[in-house]
Amino acid sequence: MIKILANDGIDASGKQLLEEAGYTVDTNKVPQDQLAAALKNYDAVLVRSATKIRKDIIDAAPNLKLVGRGGVGLDNIDVEYAKQKGIKVINTPASSSVSVAEAVFAHLFSCIRFLPHLNRQMPLHGDTQFNDLKKLASNGTELQGKTMGIFGFGRIGQEVAKIAIGLGMRVLAFDPYVDEVDLALNLPMLGENNRLKVTIRTVSEQSVITQSDFITFHVPFNEGQKALVDAELMAKMKKGVGLINCSRGGVISERDLIDALNSGQVGFAGLDVFEKEPPVNMDVLKQQNVSLSPHIGGSTKEAQNRISIELAQKVIEFFKNNA
Ligand SMILES: NC(=O)c1ccc[n+]([C@@H]2O[C@H](COP(=O)([O-])OP(=O)(O)OC[C@H]3O[C@@H](n4cnc5c(N)ncnc54)[C@H](O)[C@@H]3O)[C@@H](O)[C@H]2O)c1
Repeated sequence: MIKILANDGIDASGKQLLEEAGYTVDTNKVPQDQLAAALKNYDAVLVRSATKIRKDIIDAAPNLKLVGRGGVGLDNIDVEYAKQKGIKVINTPASSSVSVAEAVFAHLFSCIRFLPHLNRQMPLHGDTQFNDLKKLASNGTELQGKTMGIFGFGRIGQEVAKIAIGLGMRVLAFDPYVDEVDLALNLPMLGENNRLKVTIRTVSEQSVITQSDFITFHVPFNEGQKALVDAELMAKMKKGVGLINCSRGGVISERDLIDALNSGQVGFAGLDVFEKEPPVNMDVLKQQNVSLSPHIGGSTKEAQNRISIELAQKVIEFFKNNA
């Protein structure tokens, strides 16, 4: 009997597929420091971003044949080491792209109307400072007509572009490996198969940095890598630019971001990801003009459902071919 540990949970539909295939699926979370011992009894472990599958865990799990990551990044798994040990690593790269793209706009819409600050202040001072808060937030802006800069024009970057186009924004995308993309905007109001085609040619990094009102980052990031967005890069952006990071924490230097927010060079930031998770730098969390979420960009009911089904199908396929 094949035993699977879904240590960061798995949506019911994927679990059901695995159980129908005759596998045992445990969803009780094993703490990271007990994982090495627990995995001795499992053939496969399924994780999202929380559980880390490092060398020590791999060495301690002689029965392990498969590591499945629900989502995109494999930075919480020592992929090369697993491969050397004959362990297959799989993921579900496309399942959460729309959810992450929508999370970008959740942060963006909130920030341009000062909602993070208002939501913190109104329960405390909404009665006495109502008119002051109203005055401050009357400086909000619209997205329509503004320029959306997209760093990294892969799966998520392209979904962001589709939403931005739908909102009447100008899109500037930079990606050293992508020249041109045909986007098919899904517009169900126009009929089932009616897709509006829009071709986007990527532009230079310089154009995105200097011309965008808001910049969102959708690039890969590996532990130990230098931050892509530091003080030097932020200084070249439009004053008051809004930055959104729903990719990986280290992409933006938190220390430099705090300075740029304090000086007004960066107007606001929407952060779903942090240099350390859980975050240790409370200064970044306490900034007035920062919208926060605890790495849930790709976690919606729809994405969980798609991820679990794609993961289950890949697991079943693997064990069918490696019985
Ligand atoms: N917040 C979340 O919950 C969540 C969920 C899913 C994915 N992510 C993260 O989002 C990021 C993007 O995911 P994706 O599915 O779009 O990946 P993807 O591989 O489809 O796209 C990434 C793109 O970045 C480009 N790129 C690489 N280096 C670059 C650079 N220096 N400048 C500009 N572009 C560069 C690549 O050419 C590629 O086209 C990843 O870091 C992933 O881990 C976060």
